[in-house]
Amino acid sequence: MAFRGRRPCRPALNILVTAGPTREPIDPVRFISNRSSGKMGYAVARAAAGRGHRVCLVSGPVALEPPGVDLVRVETAADMLKVVLDRIDGCEALVMAAAVADWRPAVAATRKLKKAEMPLTLALARTPDILETIRSRKAGRVFVGFAAETGDPLDEARRKLTAKGLDLIVANDVTQPGAGFEADTNQVTLISSDGTTEPLPMMGKDAVAERIIRWIEEKHGKSKSDRAK
Ligand code: PMT
Repeated sequence: MAFRGRRPCRPALNILVTAGPTREPIDPVRFISNRSSGKMGYAVARAAAGRGHRVCLVSGPVALEPPGVDLVRVETAADMLKVVLDRIDGCEALVMAAAVADWRPAVAATRKLKKAEMPLTLALARTPDILETIRSRKAGRVFVGFAAETGDPLDEARRKLTAKGLDLIVANDVTQPGAGFEADTNQVTLISSDGTTEPLPMMGKDAVAERIIRWIEEKHGKSKSDRAK
């Protein structure tokens, strides 16, 4: 029988996406975090699902509607790392849009600290770097990171692209109105490991996300045909 529907011309990929901030507890009611709303990562998850891919979204605490994909909610950087480690082998691509806290209080109190007990200087410890930790599990997978910068976004993004062994980094200058944290729009530059730099105009986060997913599809297709040679 003839195929009447529109035959998809690209394979469905398993794509792992992280979104939102992490919260690093000081005590049961206080934490260190950042301004990420999760909008960028949720847009990536929606764009990937909209293009027929299977998506697992690992989300820090946000106030957004679930986007109708497999959703795992986490709180801390250590929680997020654990889920990424559990899921990475089943994926062809990872998009780390989450703003993972770089530090946590060295000790988290198990009960609410009274004002007089709160230290005026908080001792901090580094959180695990998720991308650096899973670097050895990359194999043929496509890894995409984001860089939220307030200085020279391109130089710092290029440094992170290399340091974290990524295929693509999405650089956003978060000091620009309408870009970065909380906004519905973003203005980013895509920098790939082959040296290509593609500045995109200010656009909705959904449109930025669609561009990233198309980039992953192209990269995955090219890597597959290179491996087959
Ligand atoms: O959530 P929104 O309000 O929509 O805002 C979107 C955003 C600004 C959060 C997003 O566009 C963005 O830039 N996300 C990454 C922010 C960030 O934490 O960048 P970074 O330069 O600190 O980290 C670089 C990369 O390493 C990121 O992919 C990050 O997920 C990853 N990382 C960072 C720290 C850490 N401990 N482990 C990591 O894997």
